[in-house]
Amino acid sequence: MPTPRKVPLPTARTADRHDLYQRAVQSPEAEIDFVDSRFKAIRGRRASTLREDFCGTGYTSCEWVRRRAANRAFGLDLDQPTIDWGLAHNAAGLTDEQRARLHLMNADVRTPPREARGVDIALAMNFSYWIFKTRDDLRGYFSVVRRSLAPDGVFFLDLYAGYEAMKVTQERRRIAGGFTYVWDQHAYNPVSADMECRIHFEFRDGTRLRNAFTYHWRLWTMPEVRELLLEAGFKNVVTYCEGENGNGGGDGRFRAASRCPADAGIIAYLSAAK
Ligand SMILES: C[S@@+](CC[C@H](N)C(=O)[O-])C[C@H]1O[C@@H](n2cnc3c(N)ncnc32)[C@H](O)[C@@H]1O
Repeated sequence: MPTPRKVPLPTARTADRHDLYQRAVQSPEAEIDFVDSRFKAIRGRRASTLREDFCGTGYTSCEWVRRRAANRAFGLDLDQPTIDWGLAHNAAGLTDEQRARLHLMNADVRTPPREARGVDIALAMNFSYWIFKTRDDLRGYFSVVRRSLAPDGVFFLDLYAGYEAMKVTQERRRIAGGFTYVWDQHAYNPVSADMECRIHFEFRDGTRLRNAFTYHWRLWTMPEVRELLLEAGFKNVVTYCEGENGNGGGDGRFRAASRCPADAGIIAYLSAAK
């Protein structure tokens, strides 16, 4: 048997920040498992159209079109170079037939193009909607999402909370493939709840990719987001909290909950039915 060729470890010079981000942050298979099964449970049918707001590289949209032959995905993002990266790296791994059902569009999530309306599922993941910093702006975005869903559409979004959410701190996580992901809660203003978060990457050879991504967000709390969804006209807003694995970590399974433990860091999903 031939000896497998060793893949060289990434360094700051060779690594690609989108590839690092996808490997460290995103789990499109688990995310699609979750929204697909929740939609079925809520509506009693399978969803076929999905819009990924703030899609970046469209990683999740690619997973959606891979799932079922009837599935179509629309990804919206304002950053053309990031969309282009997704087309070159993620969409390139699809068959021609799957790629024909994928539409990554340069568009503002507040004005979704006509083709991307009437969808079964809309997603706003990895807290991207926190760029909207006032109640009016966030409610306005939620209203646009609601109007752009199919009559029985469902909106899914995530958020993080817990008593360390507003702490100025850094969290390091080693990622398979030879690099470390650094989540940098760089600044937080208790008066406005404005926060600045950054992502850095560190490599085994000692090199670092500082400020690979920077976010200027408002740290919204769960009740605020729930209230604004209801004010925007959504019904039946459900929170899903992660179960515990017995070692102080999460078990990766999200269940509907009206309360969850007051932990340091909490990741939750919300579903909001039209
Ligand atoms: C945190 S990244 C999300 C990446 C990926 N979808 C994820 O879930 O990890 C946020 C993305 O939102 C995009 N973005 C910011 N404001 C936007 C807007 N108003 N409309 C569409 N995309 C926007 C940025 O260009 C960026 O690619």
